[in-house]
Amino acid sequence: MKTKSAFLFLILLVIGLSLQAQQKKQKTNYKPISPDLFGIFFEDINYAADSGLYAELVQNRSFEYSPSDKDNWQDKSNWDAYTSWQFITKGYGYGTLSLETKEPIHENNTHYMVINIEEEGREGVGLKNSGFDGIVVKAGEKYNFSVFLRQLSDKSIPMVVKLLDKKGDVIGEATFSTQSKDWKKYSATIIANQSNDNANLEVLAKTRGKLAIDMVSLFPEKTFKNRPNGLRADLAQTIADLKPKFMRFPGGCLVHGDGLGNMYRWKNTIGSVEQRFAQRNIWGYNQSVGIGYFEYFQYCEDMGAKPIPVVPAGVSCQNSGGTWRIDSNGQKGIPLAEMHEYIQEILDLIEWANGPATSTWGAKRVEAGHPKSFNLEYIGIGNEDKQTAEFRERFKMISDIVKAKHPEITIIGTIGPGQTGEDFDLGWKFANELKTPMVDEHFYDKPEWFISNQKRYDSYNRSKSKVYIGEYASKGNTLYDAIAEAAFMTSLERNGDVVRLASYAPLLAKEGHTQWNPDMIYFNNKAIYCTANYYIQQLFSTNQGDTYYENVITSADNKADSTLAFSCVRDSKTGDVILKLVNCSKNEHKLQIDLSQFKQIGTKAILTTLTGTADAKNSFEEPNKVIPVTSDFKVGKNFNFTTHPMSMTVIRVKMKR
Ligand code: AHR
Repeated sequence: MKTKSAFLFLILLVIGLSLQAQQKKQKTNYKPISPDLFGIFFEDINYAADSGLYAELVQNRSFEYSPSDKDNWQDKSNWDAYTSWQFITKGYGYGTLSLETKEPIHENNTHYMVINIEEEGREGVGLKNSGFDGIVVKAGEKYNFSVFLRQLSDKSIPMVVKLLDKKGDVIGEATFSTQSKDWKKYSATIIANQSNDNANLEVLAKTRGKLAIDMVSLFPEKTFKNRPNGLRADLAQTIADLKPKFMRFPGGCLVHGDGLGNMYRWKNTIGSVEQRFAQRNIWGYNQSVGIGYFEYFQYCEDMGAKPIPVVPAGVSCQNSGGTWRIDSNGQKGIPLAEMHEYIQEILDLIEWANGPATSTWGAKRVEAGHPKSFNLEYIGIGNEDKQTAEFRERFKMISDIVKAKHPEITIIGTIGPGQTGEDFDLGWKFANELKTPMVDEHFYDKPEWFISNQKRYDSYNRSKSKVYIGEYASKGNTLYDAIAEAAFMTSLERNGDVVRLASYAPLLAKEGHTQWNPDMIYFNNKAIYCTANYYIQQLFSTNQGDTYYENVITSADNKADSTLAFSCVRDSKTGDVILKLVNCSKNEHKLQIDLSQFKQIGTKAILTTLTGTADAKNSFEEPNKVIPVTSDFKVGKNFNFTTHPMSMTVIRVKMKR
């Protein structure tokens, strides 16, 4: 009897345990993941801002270029207040041009030119600007010209502003006259009567006299969303088409800057453009900060992306002074006595972004034309900083105060430039000590690294800091590079409970002005091409989900191979189930897909595939060599799917209507 009941008990126990295991399995079949996972990283590197995303067509508009903008190894000879400018005395006119600083428009904008017109000649005396490698204009389109002038002689001076082609023929012009002996802004609209890829802009005084001139500006009327002081429409739209969930700005190394005086200080970048502080860009040119914090926040809002500003952690870049060595330490800390003032600057940023109109800084946002809050949720502190005692002391001071005053803001800490190494280890240790909510990991590596590191986050401790992969890229723009990134990105979705944010870097590069390769989008004054890496980013960011499902996709021949990667997510807003299938190998591969657990989905799906040869890449000549192809598709509850060699496929299964 005893043996019988013991046996029965054992059977019941086994059934109970297996039921429990089954329930547990069902419970862990899915998990919520970050709804903000895929976003973008914007840095003014490769001429991404001035002459890129910023629609300003006049180069060196405020005469602030300086040889010190350049790195020591760069040619500084043609880089100064006169860069891109030419003094014009047309039709036997003559006079003099001088660079002055005595009575500027604003203390942040010290340089201006003085033109003394001794004889105006037939056509006038003035300045010509050649733009950023020429000015592109389109027939019939309007261009908004503006300039600050101070009349230094008694009588009003008639002025003419012209767009000219290379032969000197006029493409469009406008006239006005000086009206003030103080700095005054003059505006005019020029309509181009023909298209031209290499126009120049002339501003000429038509009578004898003397005037001071600054902030010579020309914008296409058609900017992104028609914003004044706006963004180049085609480029801004190409970025917006990624539908990023967030945008990180203004960098990168640009944030902590080349020495203490070169840090990116947000207050220098807001308000009227003539009052902003142009300065050396750490990448060896000048930054006008025409795209400043207001423009960054507004662009985020226009794209539906959350803003992620990154502020310096109170220390400058360890590579300051051109000491680009692995053990270099040109890092300098803001003197401790000034740290409270500096931290206040960060608190003011939060108030500026989110505070009410009644607050000091909220009022400035309202005054700039944005009454509503910008809903700032995240702030990055530092970028790839060397983990020194100076850094740690300053980071902790900032973090403690921001956390205490703004518990609603998620702080993102920094853990050095690499995916391993001393700064990485020390950075993580420090983040754990401080309980920093999120840390910023960076990795630039070969495609093979991305393929073989898909398990990286599987074992990350879920109770520690979450991860923002703020910068990553395989080292190339071939399809293979992009597909390797895609394989890795499926692992980010699988680990979307710990990896909360991720952004490819860098975003933009101008032809002929590229300091860093590879990049996601290449452009020149006229054309843009998107890399295979762009399309991979787009396939992920436009197909994000907020729940991750396991065991939906399996290899038909049980192949566990890192060249095959897949993920299944569901987007609760649309109800769609989204399958991502990546094949980095040279062979086709058959997968089994089991959708039986999704009761509300139908049979309709959209299939998108990016595929080609491993070495295929886009270029200005062949911008569409590697592009995704989309078609309608039908799915069953259980079906097989064969992936192409070297491909990424997205199957977006629609909810039943
Ligand atoms: O993305 C280019 C640079 O790479 C960033 O400025 C820096 O953070 C990283 O080292």
